[in-house]
Amino acid sequence: MNERDSEAVAAQLVARGYTLAPSEETADVVLLNTCSVRDLAEQKALNKMKSLAGVANAQRRAPVFGFMGCMAQSRGQKLIDELPDVDLVLGTQKFHRAAEYLDEILSGGREKIVDVAEEKDSEAAIREHLLNGSAKKSVSAFVSIMQGCNQYCTFCIVPYTRGEERSRGIADIVAECRELVSRGVREITLLGQIVTSYGKRDIPARDGKSAFVQILDAVHEIDGLDRIRFTSPHPKGYGDDLIDAYARLPKLCESAHIPIQSGSDRILKLMHRGYTREKFLGIIKKLRAARPEIGISTDIIVGFPGETEEDFEQTMSLAREVEFDQAYIFKYSPRRDTPAADMPDQIPQREREKRNEVLLNTVNEIAARKYENFVGWHTQILVEGPSRKNSARMTGRTRCNKIVVFDGGERHFGQIMDVRITRAGSFTLYGDPAILNLS
Ligand code: 5AD
Repeated sequence: MNERDSEAVAAQLVARGYTLAPSEETADVVLLNTCSVRDLAEQKALNKMKSLAGVANAQRRAPVFGFMGCMAQSRGQKLIDELPDVDLVLGTQKFHRAAEYLDEILSGGREKIVDVAEEKDSEAAIREHLLNGSAKKSVSAFVSIMQGCNQYCTFCIVPYTRGEERSRGIADIVAECRELVSRGVREITLLGQIVTSYGKRDIPARDGKSAFVQILDAVHEIDGLDRIRFTSPHPKGYGDDLIDAYARLPKLCESAHIPIQSGSDRILKLMHRGYTREKFLGIIKKLRAARPEIGISTDIIVGFPGETEEDFEQTMSLAREVEFDQAYIFKYSPRRDTPAADMPDQIPQREREKRNEVLLNTVNEIAARKYENFVGWHTQILVEGPSRKNSARMTGRTRCNKIVVFDGGERHFGQIMDVRITRAGSFTLYGDPAILNLS
């Protein structure tokens, strides 16, 4: 989501005549897009800004420095008070105003600008793409369909930094997707804080289909589009209409990232997640029945306040039972103004680290086994570009969202091709373009 927002701001600036600088040390404008989900992310952004300002001062340069995104939203003017080199603070509903504010600052009209106000219809303002404007061509694009969150999980800062749920209209989203496809995009990922809550308040269910399934149907109609994904859903969004969409819509990739957060019902309740372990397991079962090869990943928080050894064991057993293809594990980080930060029985940092390590070992072991099982299989990939680690190789993605690296070249870019998996590495598969045996 943040990457998508950054891309939209970069595209907006390019459209205004700015060019992308080859490095941050030579740029005339440096905007840091920030995340507040954990304290570590905020500290990293603050340190990055300090270090950039230090380098600029030593070079006797004075680029325009700005913060945007969640930390900009929640800290506002305080960022400028503490870091005087910062000129611009742009909240989460203001990304589309970046160019206008930069022009004002660069022309000397205004020295410093802080804008973190709410803005009606801003959810429809994240729409520009940088498909060919940067060094990277793209066959896969992200489309933001809703912003904000009304779930108020007790650990989470997002409802306070991103605001209330707001959704774009179906026609507007489909038009953006069509435009992307006409420019060579073959895969679209629909984005939202709780993407499955799309249109809940404004678009009534039709033929038993929620607004979210209606947008999946509408995007699925686009000729030339081959693959559809979405992130991040909430388990409460997996009604039978969505399960059915997996069975009905061939372009919908067999892959789901469904945050579980904890395997203990007691902790799920304290987190205000709104589902039980059993409900979650039921969803996984139905998804696997609809698409047996489906890749499933999740987010898990360890060390939530009050999490006992027994609660943690419930999470461990859930991880063993589901066998996630990948799990992102987070040590609980108290966030300002969230209810969990004031809950009793905060877990000591050392214990959070221990649980993190124990769970990580288990989920990685399971994932490694699952990746190993792919060796020898033939599978379809969409080729995204040169491998990041070795530019002599190409990288693609399976429908179930696994990266495949293979010996190839620019001629493979953007192709959907069959590969035979020859080897498994850490969260990466290695493949050979398959020679089909037609005899
Ligand atoms: N502490 C740790 N992890 C968190 N997440 C959200 N808030 C917190 C927090 N306060 C994790 C959740 C979410 C992911 C994006 O970040 O697992 O799904």
